[in-house]
Amino acid sequence: MKIEFVKQEKGSDLAVYEVAEGTRRNIFDAFDFKAEFNTTLIVTEEDKRILYLGIGKEKELSEERIRRAYSTVINQAVALKAKSICIQPLSEKYAGAVIEGILLSNYSFDKYKTKKEEKKLDTAAIVVRNPDAKKFSETIRICQNVLFVRDLVNENSELKNPVAFAKFAEETCKNAGVKCRILQKSELEKHGFGLLLAVSRGSNYPPQLVVMEYHGGKAGEKIAFVGKGITFDSGGLNLKPTGYIETMRGDMAGAATVLGIMKTAAELELPVNIVGVMALCENMIGPSSYKPGDSVKSYKGKTVEIANTDAEGRLILADALAFSIKELKATKIVDLATLTGAVRVALGDYATGLLTNNAELAKQFEKAGEKTGELVWQLPLWDDFSEDIKGSIADLKNIGGDGKSAGTIYGAAFLKEFVDKTPWVHLDIAATAWYDKPRYYMTKGGTGAGLRLIMEWLKR
Ligand code: BES
Ligand code: ZN
Ligand code: ZN
Repeated sequence: MKIEFVKQEKGSDLAVYEVAEGTRRNIFDAFDFKAEFNTTLIVTEEDKRILYLGIGKEKELSEERIRRAYSTVINQAVALKAKSICIQPLSEKYAGAVIEGILLSNYSFDKYKTKKEEKKLDTAAIVVRNPDAKKFSETIRICQNVLFVRDLVNENSELKNPVAFAKFAEETCKNAGVKCRILQKSELEKHGFGLLLAVSRGSNYPPQLVVMEYHGGKAGEKIAFVGKGITFDSGGLNLKPTGYIETMRGDMAGAATVLGIMKTAAELELPVNIVGVMALCENMIGPSSYKPGDSVKSYKGKTVEIANTDAEGRLILADALAFSIKELKATKIVDLATLTGAVRVALGDYATGLLTNNAELAKQFEKAGEKTGELVWQLPLWDDFSEDIKGSIADLKNIGGDGKSAGTIYGAAFLKEFVDKTPWVHLDIAATAWYDKPRYYMTKGGTGAGLRLIMEWLKR
């Protein structure tokens, strides 16, 4: 969708006017329209179709409310078969949120529909008298890259197999001005990526480790973003049952988001030094698959007992995290991973699970979450949890306790063993990166959750 900023209203299929609760007009009285938050009134006045958007009480307004209300605007505009809209916000303060609301809502993954019935809006004009051109174009760029991540996550697994995904990342980096190299299987073997290689054994495709670097800042701090890139998670020999396996092409959402972060940071020329690491492989079932009960030596040297082949994300991330510290000299690490179904049990899909060894980072992410509406919620990482992942025949095992309780925490407790003292944040996006049904501006399927959060954190 094309967005333009105009000084005064221009012709369109649908004019959108925000209305604060308590605004009196005859037409509102006639239709008993009170302009409560997220209510609408659609009328035709002198041949012009108008959507009045209730935004509730002005003092209760927030950026998140605006984003949500504009998902309603988009839905109704599409239902009216409008192709263009012209929006008049009440306050220019929220223009950024208007942009986010419409761009993120105006998305559907229709590549495999022969009839593009859900085809959305073509253009939106927003009336702003003093447009902050730089800020708006950054917001648009970030939203476009959220859609870029969604497209990747929604795509067929086969088209984004580890080799194809790595090539795509290389191409994306080239266009964005990001340095990119791919560690192939032989190098992974040489470096001792035992866990990544083990998980990938059942697959027809070799694992790939994609390392992307962007230098926009002074020497010193180097932040690593590490993404889980399981391009299909069958569960391996601990095969997932029907009802759990169908969406597992999305198990690479962490890696997709990391690619989105690198692309966006370079496009916005952020003054930061960052490195992105995507650990890519499939978790498949076959005669060569790694097996429950196997013990495997990790990149870091610690050995791991495979208690369950479906807890594969923490395995590939463990190697990638240790590599980021030892080889890439990261001074801070953020990993993004669709790691555990348990995070949905804990938080629903309202927040990303955050676990960290650094209280200050937790605070920073909470603030970035509130600003973007991509909420995070911290879970504890007490030492007791680390006790429960000690192995009986190897140093560690890849599931904790009885395998039923505190699943998200045990996943993070395992990762913690591989980051030592480096300040680290683990974001479990298993519930937020994929929605079975839409909620406001988060469309169904891949949501791109995490990208806006990280960009806000980086900017801060
Ligand atoms: N990829 C899954 C986690 C997941 C579940 C992501 C649902 C998105 C939606 C992960 O690899 C996994 O299978 N985790 C297991 C861990 C268990 C075996 C300890 C889980 O959550 O059941
Ligand atoms: Zn799994
Ligand atoms: Zn997985």
